[in-house]
Amino acid sequence: MKRIITYGTFDLLHYGHINLLRRAKEQGDYLVVALSTDEFNWNQKQKKCYFSFEKRKQLLESIRYVDLVIPENSWDQKITDITEYHIDTFIMGDDWSGEFDFLKEKTKAEVIYLPRTPEVSTSQIKEDLKLRRKNS
Ligand code: CTP
Repeated sequence: MKRIITYGTFDLLHYGHINLLRRAKEQGDYLVVALSTDEFNWNQKQKKCYFSFEKRKQLLESIRYVDLVIPENSWDQKITDITEYHIDTFIMGDDWSGEFDFLKEKTKAEVIYLPRTPEVSTSQIKEDLKLRRKNS
């Protein structure tokens, strides 16, 4: 069984996320999603989530491509996760291109960056809704 892992916030779940998860799952048989906790988002990424960790987790767990959701609490857990969950392939969107190449040396996992789906992101959705409210 080929095991895949990917990381992210997945707030206000949208079709860019679904595309990423579908293509990640196509790379293997079992997909683990490491989901950023609210604290990690706020302290490390300066992002305030609209949906709580528990709600975002429930949404991800209901997607057919996702087999397991674990918390992402720190930048440094990737090597441990890869070992603990017997991961063969680490996948991220290409907004992170090159950032995690070191994992190839530190673990036996393959590292793949998938092209992002154009023109959609959680921040963009938030901005657009703000603008629409202003203009209405
Ligand atoms: N992703 C993607 N295509 C998009 C948006 C996101 O492939 N249009 C991927 C990202 O590259 C990442 C995963 O989905 O691997 C989770 O991304 P996340 O940062 O949670 O979503 P964004 O919509 O990019 O959120 P934000 O705008 O807050 O950065």
